[in-house]
Parts: sequence; C-alpha cells; structure tokens
Amino acid sequence: MAKILDGKAIAQDIRAELKARVSELKEKNIVPGLGVLLVGEDPASRSYVTAKERACEETGLYSREVKLPATAAHDEILEVVHAFNADDQIDGILVQLPLPDSAMEESVIEAIDPDKDVDGFHPMNVGRMMMGLPAFLPCTPHGILQILKRSGIETSGAHVVVIGRSNIVGRPLVNLLSQKNELGNATVTMCHTRTKNMAEFTRQADIVVAAAGRPNTLTADMIKEGAVVIDVGVNRVEDETKKRGYRLCGDVDFDAVAEKASAITPVPGGVGPMTITMLLANTVESAVRRHGAE
Ligand code: GUN
Repeated sequence: MAKILDGKAIAQDIRAELKARVSELKEKNIVPGLGVLLVGEDPASRSYVTAKERACEETGLYSREVKLPATAAHDEILEVVHAFNADDQIDGILVQLPLPDSAMEESVIEAIDPDKDVDGFHPMNVGRMMMGLPAFLPCTPHGILQILKRSGIETSGAHVVVIGRSNIVGRPLVNLLSQKNELGNATVTMCHTRTKNMAEFTRQADIVVAAAGRPNTLTADMIKEGAVVIDVGVNRVEDETKKRGYRLCGDVDFDAVAEKASAITPVPGGVGPMTITMLLANTVESAVRRHGAE
C-alpha cells in the first residue's frame, strides 16, 4: 500500500511559515494584499475563489474580491485589472480562470502588471520561468515540486511522465522539472490526448503526474511497481448519496493505483491545498519585493 502524500499537512506547514512572515511584515506596516476578480457564476470557480480568500484571512493577508456578471464586457474586466494594478494595497492579482468568454483570457492576463502576477500566467513571467530567471512560479506546478521536495522524493535523474499540456499545469511543470536546480534535474516526458500507447510511457516512469482533467486517466496497469503518483485532477462526478449531489475525484483510479505505487497524493487533500498555499507565498513575496522589505 502506497504512502499517502498529505498535501494538506504540507500546506499547513508552509502556511505556518508564511503566517510568521506576515506577522513580521505587519510590524513594518506591510500587509500583503490579494485582489481577486471572479467573472460569472461557475460553481467550481466560486468555490476555488472562496477557498483562496479564506486562506488569505487565516494567514493574515488582506484580500478584496470584485465580482462581475458572466455578461461583463471586455472593457469592464480590463478596468478592474487596471484598478488593481494601480492600487498600492494590492500586491497580487488573481483573475479566476476560465473566463466565461475564453477568447478574452489572453488579453486580460496580459493586462496584469507582471510584478503583481502571482498566478505566474503573464507571458513575461512564463518566459522568465522558462529561462530559469526569478519569476512568480505558477501555483499548481510549484505546489507539486514542494510536495516532492518535502516528502524526500528525489527528482534528480528520475524519469517523470506528465499527462496533460495545459498552460497552467502540464506545460510549466515539464519545464520546471527539467531545469538544472534542486527541484528539477529530471528526465521528463509529456503525454496528452493525442499520445499513442500512453501506457508504454507511463510504465517507464519513476514519477507520474496526472493532470488531464478526466477521471481514470491513470489506471494501475499503466504504472510500474513502486512509482510515485501525483494526482492533479479535480473532477466532479455525480453522486446521489452526497448532500451536494456530487463527489470530487482525481484523474487517478486511486484504490487500485495505491496498491501498486510507493506514494500517492489523495483527492481531495493532495495537490489542491498546495496550489492555494503557493498563491499565498507568491503574494507575500510580491509584498516583500514591492515594499523593499528585508
Ligand atoms: N483556474 C484553475 N486553476 C487556476 C489557477 O491556479 N489560477 C487561476 N487564476 N485560475 C485557475
């Protein structure tokens, strides 16, 4: 039976470290602030945003939410971003994705001041990250690297297979894992929906990261004995036995894969809490940089 990689516990450790840092900053009259923009009523986005705001409050950060209807015009959205850019209380800006009109995403992300882009989605930060320069790292990939590091799982020389090529998880993770530093040095293979014979790749992996957004993407026959499995999926599947009518499941067939793997992240309680924690970390870092604090 695999060891459970408890993302929630690791996230709590990091949040305790951040809370202490936030207290120190408060003595210098610096309160890190997060500006949140939620457009539309998507229930999953609403629940992510609420979780992020609650985490800010618990860690001592200031947060301010602006909500716009799904019908909001491009200019209205840009206006909110520009106001956050100009607001000295705001150190980090989070525009929850997806936007109801996904065609707007690129220009909205590009409107965010790169120095406040705590999601690490602006092309400036993506480019800097890819070159290994100081940048805000995207929260989910960064959270995964922290789970591996703090669980003592060596990436150096390991073969990591990442399933998924999204701009927010798969693509940056592949890049970070391949970099020449203590969190990287892995040999990385990226698989996606057009990969033929995916199992041939995943069976070679020391570490498999499933970030496809589809339940049962990774099954037990697809991994080698003793592999480490990171499950990034957050899928809502109908479940009448639950009061809310659904349950959350990852991309991994958990019970069977856990029998064969050496370590695995659960859903919920694995990668999710780490994503939010790295957003807090980036916002604190932004406040420190913007105020020139020690
Ligand atoms: N939608 C899914 N994941 C994320 C994330 O990390 N940040 C934002 N802004 N939107 C998302």
